[in-house]
Amino acid sequence: MKITIIGAGNVGSLTAMRIAQDGLGDVFLIDVVKGLAHGKVLDLEDARPILKYNYNINGSDDIAQIKGSDIIVITAGLARKPGMSREELLSKNAQILKGICLNIKELAKKAIVIVVTNPLDIMTFFCLKITGFAPAKLFGMGISLDTARFINLISEELNLPAADIDALVIGAHGENMLPLPGFSKVKGVALDEFISDDKIKSLVSRTISRGAEIVANLGTGSAFFAPSAAIEAIVKAIVKDEKRTVGLCSYLNGQYGIKDTCIGVPCRLGKEGIEQVIELDLAPDEKAKLVKSAMLVAGATAQLFA
Ligand code: NAI
Ligand code: 2OP
Repeated sequence: MKITIIGAGNVGSLTAMRIAQDGLGDVFLIDVVKGLAHGKVLDLEDARPILKYNYNINGSDDIAQIKGSDIIVITAGLARKPGMSREELLSKNAQILKGICLNIKELAKKAIVIVVTNPLDIMTFFCLKITGFAPAKLFGMGISLDTARFINLISEELNLPAADIDALVIGAHGENMLPLPGFSKVKGVALDEFISDDKIKSLVSRTISRGAEIVANLGTGSAFFAPSAAIEAIVKAIVKDEKRTVGLCSYLNGQYGIKDTCIGVPCRLGKEGIEQVIELDLAPDEKAKLVKSAMLVAGATAQLFA
């Protein structure tokens, strides 16, 4: 199984390390910067004798090396810099992803592609259109990270292990995400049995701003430890054909009343990619918020094709 990660920055290199060390396949790391992926791979190789585990990892600045990949993770792109508008980031990352996707279309037709680059929902839709891949085979990672953040905050609040908590976030990976307290449970018992409504509201809002909180503390760059863990879990679900329900940014064509847009929803994931988009029984206000979140993504996406 050849698993290629395009973009050897913070998220990409840590993802490569996790996937290699978990023995999920032969890892190939690619970055446009000469020597960067190769240098990181040399370093990762040197860890093998210490870990006493002989994983296979290679790196290159040559995009042609994606040939024959079974799974491709796209973490290439820019993060927003001071003075750069969202629209500028959008068009710069779209340019980068266009080149990458045209290569994927030509050289790795059978790959399952996981988009990570921001703005996530827009970039996922863009990659889908450029590659022409089936929506089951190309999707984005965003809300599984947001769900992990929601669970973590609930677990800290209740001083209980995260494993006892089940929670859900849907919608766009951004300010319009929708943490769903009504679908969140502690050992099967509704969250509001444990936490007051005000506290739940505060946990929801802290979940939404968690990425920005990390950026503000780091000073430069954005989160990479939890994002790489979330990507690795998705890759594992595909490699091991887990058929597990995972939050993914998926193309919707009528589900939840949303058409021709990519947005975060729970999906069953296995070796063929997305095997089913799960339609939750949302309350009317939750559904309205999800539709609004999708409309905002669709509006921003339209700018790329204008
Ligand atoms: P980074 O700046 O550390 O790494 C990005 C890498 O992409 C750089 O090494 C750069 O040289 C490379 N790159 C640029 N153009 C390329 C090309 N054409 N081909 C190959 N490589 C290319 O950034 P980081 O922290 O790794 O984040 C990467 C992206 O992932 C950003 O857009 C970030 O916003 C996004 N992100 C998304 C998350 C999500 O939940 N969806 C979570 C965390 C990050
Ligand atoms: C995050 O949520 C940057 O999308 C990234 O941390």
